[in-house]
Amino acid sequence: MTPADTRLVRASLDQIPPGDPAPPYAPGVASLGLNEGLSGPFPSALAALERVLPELGRYPNRGSYELVAALAARHGVEPTQVLVAAGADAVIGYVCQAVLEPGDEIVTAWPSFPSFLRDPQKRDAVPVTVPLANNHVDLATMRAAVTPRTRLVFLATPNNPTGLAAPRDEVIAFVRDLPQHVLPVIDEAYYDYLAPFDRLDSIDDLVRAGQNVLVLRTFSKLYGLAGLRIGYGVGPAEVVAAMRKVQRGYDVSAPAQMAAIASLDDSAEVERRRAANSDAIAALTAMLRARGLEPLQGSVTNFVLVEVGADADELAAALLREGVAVQSGTPFGAPTALRIGAGSSSDLALLDAALASLATS
Ligand SMILES: Cc1ncc(COP(=O)(O)O)c(C=O)c1O
Repeated sequence: MTPADTRLVRASLDQIPPGDPAPPYAPGVASLGLNEGLSGPFPSALAALERVLPELGRYPNRGSYELVAALAARHGVEPTQVLVAAGADAVIGYVCQAVLEPGDEIVTAWPSFPSFLRDPQKRDAVPVTVPLANNHVDLATMRAAVTPRTRLVFLATPNNPTGLAAPRDEVIAFVRDLPQHVLPVIDEAYYDYLAPFDRLDSIDDLVRAGQNVLVLRTFSKLYGLAGLRIGYGVGPAEVVAAMRKVQRGYDVSAPAQMAAIASLDDSAEVERRRAANSDAIAALTAMLRARGLEPLQGSVTNFVLVEVGADADELAAALLREGVAVQSGTPFGAPTALRIGAGSSSDLALLDAALASLATS
């Protein structure tokens, strides 16, 4: 028997990084590495969570019926066009399962969100990466990378880890120009942080205009529900129906559904958080500059990317020892950059002290 015959798992998974559990941060560590929202759940969501606790002996509603209806009404689409899942990340996995055959290609800008590579690879599909041009997604080169084997194109705007948004008109033109056999996936995880007057709203601008496009949104960021795992996709009914077939039943918990519904109508809280986030990003940027670091200009998200000119994994590990968790750019394709999230003023003070301590050590 050859070694290959003795394997219990698919050899193609060797290209995927290990998913080992990581220990939790020590108490008091500032969590600035995961782009979580600044303030946790909305007050209305906390109240809904209290109400749902006595019901936790029951399975959640299958298919998130009420949340799907509420989101469809909010976005002016049919409920058949909305899939609620355990995070936008789960929708990425489902669309890959629903669309990709082994050997199919996907196109993504890179650096970008790692699931755009990992989920296709789990399907034995082939990611084709298009480097950022001067930190911006290069839509012309992405279009040129599309082949007859391309089935999905992933575009995060604003992009993670840069925090930069692609121009609205250019994204609309790019999506309209893609051939029929390609489904664009526009990941708008950070949509809520942009000012309403000039942001791309791919649901309104593209889905409602009849374009074949899947748009991703999440409650993990501005809505402060990252720990509950809830996000959604809006797109063609045919694609949503296929994703429902591959989705695990009951994968969105009752607390997640209830907290999301309760968060939807508090537009004043959305505005308040958007403004608080801009202030926190401005304070973070000023502090980093005072420490001699230059964050990438123009982030419209809740994080900034900072080129450090050194091994980002090592620097992130050193900062963690000082009590601050930041994200190394390595898994995102930016091995000499750190991605640092906006935090509270005490988080910021911890980061400042940690950078000062490393500078003198
Ligand atoms: C671009 C992008 N897409 C998707 C996600 C995942 O969001 P969720 O928590 O809803 O799975 C993130 C999270 O950081 C992200 O940055």
